[in-house]
Amino acid sequence: MVIKNVCCIGAGYVGGPTCSVIAWKCPDLRVTVVDKSEMRINQWNSDKLPIYEPGLDEVVMECRGRNLFFSLDIDTAIRDADLIFISVNTPTKTYGVGKGRAADLKFVESCSRKIAQVATGPKIVVEKSTVPVRAAESIINILTANTRPGISFQVLSNPEFLSEGTAIEDLLNPDRVLIGGEESEGGAKAIEELSWIYQHWIPAKKILTTNTWSSELSKLASNAFLAQRVSSINAISAVCEATGADVSQVAEAVGHDSRVGPKFLQASVGFGGSCFQKDLLNLVYIAECLNLPEVANYWQQVINMNEYQRSRFAKRIVECLFNSVTDKPLAVFGFAFKKNTGDTRESPAMYVCSHLLEEGAHLNIYDPKVAPDQILQDLTSAAMTSEPERVKRLITICDDPYEAVKEAHAIVILTEWDEFKSYDYNKMLLQMKRPAFVFDGRRILNHSALIDLGYHVETIGKRFTRNALVRNAATRQHWHRLQRQKVARNNIHHIMH
Ligand code: NAD
Ligand code: UGA
Repeated sequence: MVIKNVCCIGAGYVGGPTCSVIAWKCPDLRVTVVDKSEMRINQWNSDKLPIYEPGLDEVVMECRGRNLFFSLDIDTAIRDADLIFISVNTPTKTYGVGKGRAADLKFVESCSRKIAQVATGPKIVVEKSTVPVRAAESIINILTANTRPGISFQVLSNPEFLSEGTAIEDLLNPDRVLIGGEESEGGAKAIEELSWIYQHWIPAKKILTTNTWSSELSKLASNAFLAQRVSSINAISAVCEATGADVSQVAEAVGHDSRVGPKFLQASVGFGGSCFQKDLLNLVYIAECLNLPEVANYWQQVINMNEYQRSRFAKRIVECLFNSVTDKPLAVFGFAFKKNTGDTRESPAMYVCSHLLEEGAHLNIYDPKVAPDQILQDLTSAAMTSEPERVKRLITICDDPYEAVKEAHAIVILTEWDEFKSYDYNKMLLQMKRPAFVFDGRRILNHSALIDLGYHVETIGKRFTRNALVRNAATRQHWHRLQRQKVARNNIHHIMH
């Protein structure tokens, strides 16, 4: 088979960028990305794409209408395709067996059924979504149970390793491409066909081939290892705060060991994103089902540490603001789960904000890329609050960071957007209540400069001794206020008796 037509089911964060790059690098292929969401397809066909990724607009604008198409006509795209990527979402199950842990494969299954139903010729079906080990077995079973004469299917696993915010860069120059297939002549042939597509721009030595199950498990294992590194450095950050060590110095020292390496050692307010937690939960669930409780507990701890990190930071904000944020305006900078994306799925910002809202704080939230509706939707969702109307009243979405700081007691940094580093913090300070605090959950600001300006700075994995001056002044002020209130109360008591 010579592949001419490629179809991708699922026009999301993976399907859209991946197929745009394939179309760009393979002008000899016709690539059609389909989705059941009319809104998403319309956005892919408009000037404002549904997702923000540096470099994506340029690639799409060059290929769209030439050899890249976004369509709602799923049946035709499947029928015409030689190779079909399944790039649909595989979220954590919210119901039934495995609720809250197992991956929900209903969308993958419905794609398989659709392919079986409409295919009129042989197809290579590629599982690009992240799935549990042996998920391809179900796809094969559905396809073979529905096979008609003259139609054959080969199912491959080809997990995606791109990161949001650097998707185009990752797709153009990946560390590796992984393709798993059946250990048979047909399987090897299909692997070769898919490799041929990638070899348009990726050196053959970067294309790894394995059996199907190794490929599926490698994807879960990769995300688990990455998340584990973040949780490991975050665990160390708590020790730093308690001892006076500085987590970036520790990370640098540890990362200099070539066996460890320097990447993914940035302590933070916790990892977010649609996949780390979902894939870890999936791995935990698989281990439990395989009767491997020690393995399950081991990976569960990575999630527990992440939850601890988020809530530790939120509690520290309240504690530093004299144990109460009720009715206090706080400026929140950043809501996306990382910089250079508008994606808020599992963003640590959501959890920190939710804790502060629960305590009654007024949040002025600014993010350069997240749509205001998305922030409101996230913070008022049933998973975050049982009082959506109250929460709504406590939130102001700002389109200017200088607006957000007016009368605020603190600035809380929750995403590492580069622009946050270049703000005029002196100008901001003049608009804020005193003492003015900065809580840097991403360790991106120049802390000593902020302290010199007069801010009280708190960050992850470091204690500032010079803060003590501000802290003492703040505590003194607070103590005097309490004394005045006590005297007033006593006076009232005397008058009444
Ligand atoms: P997404 O939610 O952004 O996109 C999935 C799309 O699939 C949606 O637009 C949805 O409408 C569509 N869809 C679902 N069922 C469909 C059906 N039956 N027919 C047609 N369209 C259908 O998800 P995503 O972030 O692109 O992730 C997709 C998969 O890739 C997941 O398994 C995820 O774990 C994995 N992954 C994601 C990333 C990432 O950075 N987001 C990276 C690597 C792997
Ligand atoms: C991650 C993986 O990096 C990708 O390889 C994978 O394909 C993808 O998940 C997926 O399967 O969805 P992504 O979630 O887009 O990519 O972004 P990352 O750069 O991995 O960051 C994840 C979270 O960890 C972010 O909240 C980030 O701020 C945080 N992080 C990352 C840290 O706190 N410290 C670090 O050192 C690195």
